[in-house]
Amino acid sequence: MHGAYEGIHRQRQVDIAKQLFAAMGIDRYDKERRHDWVMRGFRQFDAPVSIVVTYDKDLDPGASIAHFDLGAVTYGLVLAAWTRGLGAVINGQGIMQSPVVREHAQIPDDQVIMTCVAMGYPEDDFAANDVKSVRRETDEIVTFVGFDEDA
Ligand SMILES: Cc1cc2nc3c(=O)[nH]c(=O)nc-3n(C[C@H](O)[C@H](O)[C@H](O)COP(=O)(O)O)c2cc1C
Repeated sequence: MHGAYEGIHRQRQVDIAKQLFAAMGIDRYDKERRHDWVMRGFRQFDAPVSIVVTYDKDLDPGASIAHFDLGAVTYGLVLAAWTRGLGAVINGQGIMQSPVVREHAQIPDDQVIMTCVAMGYPEDDFAANDVKSVRRETDEIVTFVGFDEDA
């Protein structure tokens, strides 16, 4: 795990949590419902399926290419599922207790657990599903070189 987010990254985490809690009507001081929300992540959002994404331990250390590959495969998985009407939440929280996940999903020791994906048919009337995360403008995050019309 990367540890606690800081700066703008922490701020984004707080902002999306505020959006979700507002949509769900969870008050800032409602410890019980906030705790339940956290527990949902461990419960794979009550989805019927959780797919655990792993890679060969042999690829460690320095498995950044394997991490990149798994990001690509997970993205493909989520999009493919969506074409069949299945919703997904890539769920880093779901593997925080990885020994428990390893035992229950019977994952061999030669596999490194990377993440998991909760999957199921979405509940359209579940308020949190309407939350849209804020995006930066393309111009803020992309540098275009060689596309200047005057050049
Ligand atoms: C690597 C990764 C880990 C994530 N972990 C969690 C998580 O632990 N809990 C959660 O609620 N959402 C998590 N998400 C976000 C959800 O998967 C989110 O629905 C998904 O990123 C699509 O929403 P977006 O379009 O706002 O990014 C994670 C996303 C990624 C890419």
